[in-house]
Amino acid sequence: MHHFAYQDGQLKAEGVSLDQIASQVGTPTYVYSQATLTRHFQAFGQAFAGLDPLICFAVKANTNRAVMGLFASLGGGADIVSGGELYRALQAGVDPGRIVYSGVGKSEAEMEAALAAGILMFNLESVQELLVLDQVAGRLGVKAPVSLRVNPDVDAQTHPKITTGLAKNKFGLDVDLAFEQYRLMAGMPHLQIMGVSCHIGSQLTDVRPFADACERLAALVARLKAAGINLRVLDLGGGLGITYNDEVPPNPAQYAAALKQTVGRLGLRLVLEPGRVLVGNAGLLLCRVLYTKQTPAKRFIIVDAAMNDLVRPSFYDSYHAIWPVSQRPGEEAMVADVVGPICETGDFLARQRDLPAFERGQLMAIMSAGAYGFAMSSNYNSRPRAAEVLVNGDRFGVVRARETYEDLCRGESLPEWMR
Ligand code: LLP
Repeated sequence: MHHFAYQDGQLKAEGVSLDQIASQVGTPTYVYSQATLTRHFQAFGQAFAGLDPLICFAVKANTNRAVMGLFASLGGGADIVSGGELYRALQAGVDPGRIVYSGVGKSEAEMEAALAAGILMFNLESVQELLVLDQVAGRLGVKAPVSLRVNPDVDAQTHPKITTGLAKNKFGLDVDLAFEQYRLMAGMPHLQIMGVSCHIGSQLTDVRPFADACERLAALVARLKAAGINLRVLDLGGGLGITYNDEVPPNPAQYAAALKQTVGRLGLRLVLEPGRVLVGNAGLLLCRVLYTKQTPAKRFIIVDAAMNDLVRPSFYDSYHAIWPVSQRPGEEAMVADVVGPICETGDFLARQRDLPAFERGQLMAIMSAGAYGFAMSSNYNSRPRAAEVLVNGDRFGVVRARETYEDLCRGESLPEWMR
């Protein structure tokens, strides 16, 4: 459910017409709906009512400060994976006591910054990493709060590039190794054992793998308890899918129902790290048709957004619905590819789609672009990154200015022998 809908044939974000945003801010522009973001956050939390979960938004999905700050104001925390994400989360006003830090490659400097900030816990992913964190915490004279990220070896049945919980993936520690490490950690002076975590993949459309992973973690928690090691936190990661096209993912209530019994029995503080499900359908990418072109083989619609703005179609072959901003009744659908100006055959936003007969100058909305959209954008082909706009009722604000050509060259300099 989102707040992008047609009114008198004009696509609006809540009460604001996208036409107005395009004329004031230009294109391409990411547009987010505050009502949708709020609704998704609240619906997710309500699904777990009774378990009082800490919802740590996976900020990698959308790092805009306004978006992170909105969730923080609703009581959320952040799941971070880098020093940069820590910095941004703190800037956005996220309570450090609600930040969890995952990822296989935290540097010592990043560990120091997170310890100094006083985050809730580190989700550690290797034996070496926990030895290093123990040393870093020792240097700073503090105890680092830790959980081990377990790789439960369950198949998330999603795209291979976003599957993370299989034994062959780089993430986490297998259950038996984790058990041994907890026993060692109990004797390490600068680590404080907090809990256990996992994250098995993204865009899951079935609850079964979540339930299986949760069961495997519960068995480990019980084994640890029997060995005298009591955990406080159970972090089940993120991964709940959304509807891009015709997927029917579980809704948050069904997702919660699949986990509640096991989680309730353990009596640990529940942490969740949703990303996509909170922001994916709360954002779209607004762009304009530059040209249309009919070749002997195909019809192409060339727009001013490209793979540097939204890489998901090129990278994962993912589907994003394409909507016209102005509906023209009675128009016949035509099959076309929507492509950007970048010099790569892989630069497409949609392929072989039934679309209205878009013409030069018309506005287009690329839907479900709020997650891993702007966050994965780049400057490839020296294209300044898009603007970001947040809509709230009948108001909107630019929450990130469009980059300029000067931004493209910022930080570059010539070595002294070329000057
Ligand atoms: N927690 C951890 C440790 C993660 O690695 C991720 C996502 C999440 C939580 C949030 O997962 P979500 O709820 O969003 O599924 N760029 C890809 C998705 C990569 C996901 C990486 N990890 C895409 O565009 O589909």
